[in-house]
Amino acid sequence: MSRKPIIAGNWKLNNLSSASVELVNEIMDGVKNETILPEIVVAPVFVSISAVNDAIKKCGCGKVKLAAQNCYWEESGAYTGEVSVPMLQEFGVEYVIIGHSERRQYFSETDEMINKKAKAVLEKGLIPIICCGETLEQREEGITDAHISSQIKGALEGISKEDVAKSVIAYEPIWAIGTGKTCDSTEANRVIKMIRNVVAEVAGAESADAIRILYGGSVKPDTIEEQMAQSDIDGALVGGASLKADSFVNIVTGSVK
Ligand code: 13P
Repeated sequence: MSRKPIIAGNWKLNNLSSASVELVNEIMDGVKNETILPEIVVAPVFVSISAVNDAIKKCGCGKVKLAAQNCYWEESGAYTGEVSVPMLQEFGVEYVIIGHSERRQYFSETDEMINKKAKAVLEKGLIPIICCGETLEQREEGITDAHISSQIKGALEGISKEDVAKSVIAYEPIWAIGTGKTCDSTEANRVIKMIRNVVAEVAGAESADAIRILYGGSVKPDTIEEQMAQSDIDGALVGGASLKADSFVNIVTGSVK
């Protein structure tokens, strides 16, 4: 099974709308002459999604897709401050990042909440990018695999095999996020293979073969080729290096070399 690579930029809490539009335009300009590309995804803050969607539509190149950084599982109602999946869909969002470690850590998201979000995203035909990863303490304690396995089982609970196959997982070791310390590629590949085995256990071998699993954590233009050369790494979820068009475009083009 050949899995189409994905390079996704998680812009986190950065950029006013004007800067987001400028960034997406620069990215689209940077890849306009490239013919072999991965799926390219950008995730601006909620309030910039509409403007970035307009810029993508205006370009018409179809090379960049839109993601949200979060969502709520209910469609509407008395949930002050939340944004639902149909509301994102209205503005061209195709992917939703869920369960990022920053949301787990600062906003107390649990595997159960992440599971509800994944189901809500899939029910509307969008694709969840489900994040998992261990802390440095968990790694040092030797419980990396057990922790991640339980995160994945929790996130995928009750989701059909077909929907699991369409989903994306991002393995992001927390100690590698924003630290400049990239996880060794062979170790990242080992954990990602382990995640694929967990997916096989809960959703069967076909779904495990189809699901795309990304690596995230200090991905840079000079790390991507080695990461993509690994057997099971299907792309990257990029934070800091996605905020500058040139470094993001270099990661995008480096991923398919
Ligand atoms: P950095 O690339 O800045 O380490 O962030 C990774 C990340 O958290 C992407 O979701």
